[in-house]
Amino acid sequence: AGDFRLAPHPTITRIGKPLLLIVMDGLGESKFHDEFNAVEQANTPTLDALKELAPRRWRMLKAHGTAVGLPTDADMGNSEVGHNALGAGQIVDQGAKCVDGALATGSLFKLDGWKWIEANAVAGTLHLIGLLSDGGVHSRYDQLTLLMEGAIQQGVKRIRLHVLSDGRDVNDNTAVAWVERLQGDVAALSQRLDVDVRIASGGGRMAVTMDRYESDWRVVQRGYYAHVLGEAPHRFKDPVQGVRELKKGNTVSDQYIEAWVVVGEDGESVGRVADGDAVVTFNFRADRMVEISQALEYPKFDKFDRKRWPDFRFAGIMQYDGDLLLPKHFLVPPPLIERASEQYVVGTGLRVFACSESQKIGHVTFFWNGNRSGYLDPKLEKFEEIPSDQGISFDKAPAMKAREIAAATKQALLSGKYDFVRCNFANPDMVGHTGNLKAAIEAVTVTDECVKVLLDAVDQAGGRFLVTADHGNAEEMSQRDKAGNPVIKDGKPVELTSHTLNPVLCAIGGPGLPGRGCCWQDDLPNAGLANVTATFLNLLGFEAPDFYKPTLITTDGE
Ligand code: 3PG
Ligand code: CO
Repeated sequence: AGDFRLAPHPTITRIGKPLLLIVMDGLGESKFHDEFNAVEQANTPTLDALKELAPRRWRMLKAHGTAVGLPTDADMGNSEVGHNALGAGQIVDQGAKCVDGALATGSLFKLDGWKWIEANAVAGTLHLIGLLSDGGVHSRYDQLTLLMEGAIQQGVKRIRLHVLSDGRDVNDNTAVAWVERLQGDVAALSQRLDVDVRIASGGGRMAVTMDRYESDWRVVQRGYYAHVLGEAPHRFKDPVQGVRELKKGNTVSDQYIEAWVVVGEDGESVGRVADGDAVVTFNFRADRMVEISQALEYPKFDKFDRKRWPDFRFAGIMQYDGDLLLPKHFLVPPPLIERASEQYVVGTGLRVFACSESQKIGHVTFFWNGNRSGYLDPKLEKFEEIPSDQGISFDKAPAMKAREIAAATKQALLSGKYDFVRCNFANPDMVGHTGNLKAAIEAVTVTDECVKVLLDAVDQAGGRFLVTADHGNAEEMSQRDKAGNPVIKDGKPVELTSHTLNPVLCAIGGPGLPGRGCCWQDDLPNAGLANVTATFLNLLGFEAPDFYKPTLITTDGE
């Protein structure tokens, strides 16, 4: 651990009081100041006061694009890359970029992962499971196409596609168009290269396959049954037609389309997984692929009855969990983040408390630790998970578990047992993803209320705080045209369910801050989330490693 010991900061001394770090998930700042800005519409006395009372102790930070390791500045931020940046202090190439590289150079088809499945993929059927959109958060359509074409060049003759509808990282009510596009591309591909490629099964991502942090295993069961067993409540011959019907005139969100399978003339599924087949999950982002990977890979598995577990070979496009080594085989090596802040924090002997609800627990632990699961040092770290509500859309309960998280975190702050206390409030993000404006306003209001509870606790404890967010979401709840006007359809504004490209707030304070001189540096106008890491290490009383992005604060202020 000596290797990870931090040097004391010359002017910001360790005071034996806790540092609180709050991430308000999905709360950004928009340039549109109208009724669709749920952050401005919400009642936020706490956040407002942060800005009013300490003008030199708050600023905005970049939370999207190349500033957080994504391929381009057109890529919106997301929690994985946002929390990776917050925890790493460095800008690390993220999954999307690694897959782009491996597909562009063709190295993907030369590495061990492909070798593992190749014989099965060529002799049997190659099944591709993943999210169908160009959201760029979990997957990208162009990668799916390149993967298919590359596989065919390697001799694959038969491909079955198991595709989840999005409506969360892209606009809702686009699922039919996506299936239609895939259907068209697949037909062209089959003809051009004389192969047999078909869409085989699917469903909406929040109902089928893409659960995370074990929030609801039934979601994964539906996926396993549809993709592997060929069993689903809905069966049809034409996926475009079928998905259109399941949308019920757009009264069903793309995210919640029920599981379906495509059947042939004989009424049998066209794409169940058979002995000798190969399966690849093509989402590069890990959180929502871990559970389905377990269902596909583990010989012993008790989360639901698999009924049949064929003898196939499975690889993820990435390895989704570096500690569980899951899946065992993967097509592209993962971006394991070396020398993440938590390694230094525990290496210096600091005691850590991290809390969130199930939906975001990995965000304060795994993503934060450079993508390692579990404790780095169980003697120094304590992770507390508040169980999330199950089986409901979060606009029905926009408070989610924020008050419970605030209570647990407050207790940790006042306990005197921790040096570094961090928590994540999921509300602006999870409710923002539903597209429900009223609920998003409520979500932000509750978040502000809970931030207040914690800032009061910092006051009481004599500590310091840093409040920030991982990316935008709730501040833009309506789609906009090029001129910036809300898109109206059938007399109603069209919801925006995805994240945004907007910057996020970063504010510091607390009675433990050293004097008036501690404030922002002037020379970092383009700072992003990765600059937060050195900043909070300073606030803990230590210098940051010199290869970290520069700290945002100075103690030479006026
Ligand atoms: C999700 O997985 O819910 C969204 O695609 C991204 O949300 P997050 O990046 O805020 O977790
Ligand atoms: Co989100």
